[in-house]
Amino acid sequence: MEFEKIASVLISKEDIEKRVAELGAQISKDYEGKEPLFVGVLKGCFIFMADLMRNVTVDCSMDFMTVSSYEGTSSTGAVKITKDLNQDICGKDIIIVEDILDSGVTLKFLESYLMVRKPNSIRIATLADKPARRKTDIKADYACFEIPDAFVVGYGLDYNQKYRNLPYLGILNPELI
Ligand code: IMP
Ligand code: MG
Repeated sequence: MEFEKIASVLISKEDIEKRVAELGAQISKDYEGKEPLFVGVLKGCFIFMADLMRNVTVDCSMDFMTVSSYEGTSSTGAVKITKDLNQDICGKDIIIVEDILDSGVTLKFLESYLMVRKPNSIRIATLADKPARRKTDIKADYACFEIPDAFVVGYGLDYNQKYRNLPYLGILNPELI
């Protein structure tokens, strides 16, 4: 392992590439004739969103928000918007793009926060889904991978801001958490 703190590879670079392409194709089909606005949740979404959008064939646009709810590996339960959208989303078809759906606290908050602005629709796309950890009734409309309850890093996901650059999803050595 080139990164000594990674215990194992959970999902390989090749499997991610294949699945993201499938998801992009599905979204392109579902949004035929529409023009979705992808809203990426920074920073974790950045690699997934870049790859996903390159697999979308309908006209679309993108924007970003920054939401913070996590310090280290455990949720503080508090969600804070530190960067909001700078466009009107009234009547638009929104696809929120997240790196991982864990407790669901972040996405539940974000969904109701954006709903007030009267978009035509809001759907959620996530790279990873950890259903075992869910504390809210939120579901991903598009999820690349359902994963077990382990702390994962890579492909945009971090542990204290590190390991985002790994090309695969890896499990962090639990001794480090
Ligand atoms: P939620 O509000 O509990 O669903 O948390 C979602 C956010 O927590 C994600 O956007 C990630 O930033 C972070 N997170 C949750 N689980 C992991 C993980 O296994 N690795 C890295 N970040 C995680
Ligand atoms: Mg995140």
